[in-house]
Amino acid sequence: MARQQPGPGSGDESNADPGLQNFRFTFTATPGTSGFIEPDPKLGGQLRESSESLSESVQDFPEEFGRTYHAYRAGSYFFPNDSIEQERLALQSNALRKLFGGRLYFAPLSETTSPRTILDVATGVGDWAVQMGDLFPDAQVIATDLSPIQPKQVPPNVNFYVEDSSDPWEYSQSFDYVHTRAISGCWSSFERQIAEQAFAALEPGGWFESQEVDCTIACDDGTLDPEGPMATWFRDIVVAGERCDRCIVIGSTLREVYERVGFVDVHERIFKMPTNGWAKDDGLKELGRMWERNLLQGLSGFSFSLFNRAFGRTAAEIEVSLVDVRRDISDPRIHAYLPIYVVWGRKPPASDHLK
Ligand SMILES: C[S@@+](CC[C@H](N)C(=O)[O-])C[C@H]1O[C@@H](n2cnc3c(N)ncnc32)[C@H](O)[C@@H]1O
Repeated sequence: MARQQPGPGSGDESNADPGLQNFRFTFTATPGTSGFIEPDPKLGGQLRESSESLSESVQDFPEEFGRTYHAYRAGSYFFPNDSIEQERLALQSNALRKLFGGRLYFAPLSETTSPRTILDVATGVGDWAVQMGDLFPDAQVIATDLSPIQPKQVPPNVNFYVEDSSDPWEYSQSFDYVHTRAISGCWSSFERQIAEQAFAALEPGGWFESQEVDCTIACDDGTLDPEGPMATWFRDIVVAGERCDRCIVIGSTLREVYERVGFVDVHERIFKMPTNGWAKDDGLKELGRMWERNLLQGLSGFSFSLFNRAFGRTAAEIEVSLVDVRRDISDPRIHAYLPIYVVWGRKPPASDHLK
C-alpha cells in the first residue's frame, strides 16, 4: 500500500532533508494496489518455481511398486531412484571402471593440460563426476540429473544440478569434454536430444564420450537359449522402451550417431561384461560376479514401471516372471555377456570449420 510521506505540519519534520522541507511528497496509489495486485495474464498462469520451492519439490519423490522415482518431470524416466537403485548405481560404476582397466575416460584428455570445463549428463549418484573433479582439480565439473541423489560433500570444483537434459541446454559456458554413461531409457532420441546438443555445447576441438551398456544380451557358444527367460526379458525391455518412447539400445548405434552429428576422430571400443562368474579368467570372473549382483539388484526396478506402462502387466505378474530370469542370470552354464560400447569423438577444431 502506498504511504504518504510526512509533509509540513505533520509534526515530524525534524529528520527531513532541509532542502526538501515544505515539499509534500505524495505517492498516488495506482488503482488496485491498495489490495490485490492483479497479475498480467500475458505473462502466463504458471508460477516460475523459485530455487527454494524447486529444491523442495524435486525431493518429493513419488512412490509406486514399493519404490521411489524422480519428482522433477515425474514419469519421464522409468527406473527408480531410491537407496536400492543408488547402491546398484555405485556397484555398476565400480564394475565398469574395473572393466575399463581403472579408466574414467578414453578420450585423449591430458592431466597436464587439464580440461577447463566438463559436463556429465545424467550423472546418477555422481560418482564419475566426483572422481573426475578429484582427477582434474583445475577443471569445473558440472553434472546434471532429474534426481538430486548426489552426495552433499563433494570437491569444490564439482556442481550438481537438477535438470532435464532433453530440454534445450542453456549453459553460460562451453565445455572441453562432455560425458554420458549408462543412459539407456533416458531419452527418446540420444542423437537429437544429447549428441547434437553436446556438439553445440563443446568448444571446437573438445571431446564427447559415451560409455554405454548395450541391452542386447549375447553369447558366443550357444549356451543361451534365445527363447529362454533371460533372452526374452532383454527383448521385452527393448520393446517396452520403444512403446514408451525411450531408447534402450544405444551402445551399438553410438559410432554412427557421432559421425552423423559431425564429430571427427571417432573411436569405438567394445567390451564384454559376463552376466555372472562363468568365465575362466579370474578378472572376468570377478567382474561377472559384480555384474550378476548388479542385474539381480536392478531387475525389478528396471521392470516394474516400464513393463506396467508398456504391457499393462501388474507388479505381481512382473515379480513372478522375474523368478526364472533371476535363475538364468545366476546360472554359470549360460555363458552370456552384455556388450559395452565406449565411443569418443572430437568436435572439429575451429580451423577445420574454415576449410
Ligand atoms: C542408469 S543411471 C546412470 C547414471 C550415471 N551416468 C552412471 O553411470 O552411474 C541414469 C540416470 O539418468 C537420469 N536421467 C534420466 N532421464 C534424464 C533426463 N531426461 N535428464 C537428466 N537425467 C536423466 C536418471 O535420473 C538416472 O540417474
